[in-house]
Amino acid sequence: MKIERINLFPVMIPRRTGIDNRHVIVRLDAQGDQVGWGEMSDLSHLPLYQMDLANLEGALNDLLVGRDARDLSSIEQLMERAYTVEGHKYSRSGLVRQGIDLALHDLLARRAGVPVYALLGGALRDRFKVCYPIFRMRSEAEIAPNLERIAEMAGRGFDLIRVYVGADVDVDIRFFEAFSERFGGSVRIKSIDFSNLLDWRRSLAATERYVDLADWMLIESPAPEEDYEGLAEFRRRSRWPVSEHVNHLWHGWQLLRSGCVDILNVSPYVLGGLRPCLRAIALAEAAHASVLIGTTQELNLGTAAVAHLGAVARVLDYPADNTGPELYTADVVKEPLRYEDGHLLVPDGNGLGVEVDEATLEQRRTSLVSTFGTDLVGMLDRTTAAERGDGGN
Ligand code: LMR
Ligand code: MG
Repeated sequence: MKIERINLFPVMIPRRTGIDNRHVIVRLDAQGDQVGWGEMSDLSHLPLYQMDLANLEGALNDLLVGRDARDLSSIEQLMERAYTVEGHKYSRSGLVRQGIDLALHDLLARRAGVPVYALLGGALRDRFKVCYPIFRMRSEAEIAPNLERIAEMAGRGFDLIRVYVGADVDVDIRFFEAFSERFGGSVRIKSIDFSNLLDWRRSLAATERYVDLADWMLIESPAPEEDYEGLAEFRRRSRWPVSEHVNHLWHGWQLLRSGCVDILNVSPYVLGGLRPCLRAIALAEAAHASVLIGTTQELNLGTAAVAHLGAVARVLDYPADNTGPELYTADVVKEPLRYEDGHLLVPDGNGLGVEVDEATLEQRRTSLVSTFGTDLVGMLDRTTAAERGDGGN
């Protein structure tokens, strides 16, 4: 089944929290009128550093047209050589590899008339728990709108959140006080996430100040990226499990062998699709470590891929972060994925299990612009200057 054509469709989708995010939808055509769809999710990290999509589309066609779509292993090797591992979680090359990996899985499973999870050996579960993100707060003015968001999501069955912390510990404390007073017992916190902002000692000091105000299942990224010693130091002192994003397979190995983590945060958008994620999960299994599935905030296509990954994962013992479809105000699929009681339901249609609405896709196709402008805090925190009340500084 020869690959005939790859098309890239950039789209801009607003979030309920007021920011806009860019994604690239991938259409892969193969012999016999076969079509597969993939997604390069959330290119709005490092928005001032974008890819030339016309060039990328041309290069992907040069590289892949004429190859057999069933040759997943050799195509993956080719893609890794052309789009080399960049070693950080906002990697462009990982997103390019993800886009192709997802489109190939969608294509092959559609062709076989089965869901992607069946192609991967069959599902171990038909749903898994997910949590809703509360983005980092820097001013007290951001607390009330976040509490309203939590109330709204709780009303729709999402009774688990994760909270980005560490920019202003006093604001975090006010938030946790107000959160516990209003939702104590009814909404739980999956994690507090320091996003590699602070060194381990500052993260520990902040955690000690939060501890009487709220409870959480685990702590994410409480040391600078690649500070293996700092992270291990934090973990030795932490009574909660510690998790960190796996940026590439060797990074996952370093995190485990250096005693940095209890949990690998595994995501197709960082690692470059489903295949490397399965290897990272095997790595965790070998180390008797845990796994959670992270997010960059994917659209439905990207989240569907995560649903299939979660369905087949041999290790998956913490809630996942994938509520992108609930965060965005629009999408390019006809029917969104379903959530029930805070669980992502694994779709059982053919392929990834979501159908792209090509009219909507065409409508949402946009040129490459950044709506963050040069708001460096907004880029990091995923917030708007208006909500922070700081004029974008
Ligand atoms: C997002 O886009 O909201 C996330 O990728 C944020 C983050 O840094 O984890
Ligand atoms: Mg993101």
